[in-house]
Amino acid sequence: MVEITGLKLKRMKCIAMEGLIEEGKELIDEIEKGPVLDAGLIGAAQKVEHYEISGYGTLLAMAKHLGLDSEAISLLKETMAEEKSTDEKLTNIAEEGGNQAATLS
Ligand SMILES: [Fe+2]
Repeated sequence: MVEITGLKLKRMKCIAMEGLIEEGKELIDEIEKGPVLDAGLIGAAQKVEHYEISGYGTLLAMAKHLGLDSEAISLLKETMAEEKSTDEKLTNIAEEGGNQAATLS
């Protein structure tokens, strides 16, 4: 994607994403295996997806504002759609039983 734009970017560590991943690890450390942990991990994974969706939304808006070519815009839209699809799949998993089982146990 960056190659398409001709922009030079500096690689940066994503501290927020590291924090979200750490939250998931804490759940694994603190909650025994079972439906409660499963529900927590689904939620943790959705936090990651929402963070990614937010990031791609911002990049898409910037790309449009900068008048980047349609290939760059298409790639960003495609990637954001993938993130939204993953989020929806996680919601479906939660609604099909993961979170319901957690509330019944
Ligand atoms: Fe993702």
